[in-house]
Amino acid sequence: MVKRTTGHRQLKSPPLIRGLIGFGWMRSNWPVLGNVDCDFGLVWAEKFGKPIDSLAGKVVWITGASSGIGEHLARALACAGVKLVLSARREHELERVKQKCLEIGKNLTEGDILILPMDVTAVQKHSEHFQQVISYFGQLDILVNNAGRSQRANWEDIDLTVDQEMFNLNVFGVLSLSRLAVKYFMKEKKGGHIVVMSSLAGVNATAFPFSASYAGAKYALHGYFNALHSEKTLSNISVTLLCPGPVFSNFLAECFTDKPGEKFGKPVEATDRRMTGERCGYLCAVAIANKLHEAWMALLPYIPLCYMFVYCPNIGNYLMRIMGPKLFLKIRDSKTKMGTKTE
Ligand SMILES: NC(=O)c1ccc[n+]([C@@H]2O[C@H](COP(=O)([O-])OP(=O)(O)OC[C@H]3O[C@@H](n4cnc5c(N)ncnc54)[C@H](OP(=O)(O)O)[C@@H]3O)[C@@H](O)[C@H]2O)c1
Repeated sequence: MVKRTTGHRQLKSPPLIRGLIGFGWMRSNWPVLGNVDCDFGLVWAEKFGKPIDSLAGKVVWITGASSGIGEHLARALACAGVKLVLSARREHELERVKQKCLEIGKNLTEGDILILPMDVTAVQKHSEHFQQVISYFGQLDILVNNAGRSQRANWEDIDLTVDQEMFNLNVFGVLSLSRLAVKYFMKEKKGGHIVVMSSLAGVNATAFPFSASYAGAKYALHGYFNALHSEKTLSNISVTLLCPGPVFSNFLAECFTDKPGEKFGKPVEATDRRMTGERCGYLCAVAIANKLHEAWMALLPYIPLCYMFVYCPNIGNYLMRIMGPKLFLKIRDSKTKMGTKTE
């Protein structure tokens, strides 16, 4: 599924062959095996692919840029001299991220970063926001749909309204902005790149317990954007699905639960086993620069587990039965209990 690219075209390389090449490379670099925190295609791109600097001068619009992975992606791109549009609802946080990007940015001036506050779920305003970006920079090269929230809840207790709110934010907001961008890329004929922040929970054949609406939403993104990728395979429009595992961010506190309007409210702890936002943002930037079609990133044991679920689903399911959902939750959140009534 993961692709390496040359120029505008995304070239297919069979996952198994890429896996074997990657495994060979990892065998010959045995001491670093313990540090491998992404799929083989991304390992390869980080080591031998295009540098993030190859994106210098491009205009990249990131939603959910006021914290977490979006903020760290913005920083990684700023270091490479990328012009940015930063969107989210908290304007003061976007201003903070902008100042940080200007401090560390390569040849960036005040005018190279546009703050565009928006609620991704207010889809009726998307067209207006899109025009604001084009009027300001005169172009858009890459749209990164990163804004999103996760969930902790028991499957059977989830109120249907929560499923709808989840899809409004994590799916329909993404579709609405991406359709505007694809139409623009096709009209301008110079191509473009749609990036979608998915999750390992959205990778085909994975099964994350206690976040059914979230897993459903991320799976939906793969369906929609794999279809887009197939339709535009012979065009100069690229699609990248970014799939992180657990990462340090506000994520857990902001999670949906089973009740409408409720937040999970538990912060991640410094002792939790998660990838840093900085490393995740950097790997996302590498995946974007190399136009990888799908990129996985997480600390061990997530990536080997993911390969197991995707390539040997029966063994993956057997493993899940041995581990049980509580142990899976412990690996995911560094806790055996959700801390709610589902304990
Ligand atoms: N952290 C993880 O473990 C993890 C793992 C896999 C995938 N992800 C994905 O990574 C993405 C970012 O999450 P994160 O971990 O960085 O969490 P985060 O720190 O909570 O960031 C979420 C971002 O989304 C924005 N957002 C939320 N609702 C919004 C809305 N209605 N309109 C506009 N912006 C909105 C937030 O900004 P405002 O509140 O200012 O609007 C914030 O900038 C999500 O799509 C998530 O699914 C995270």
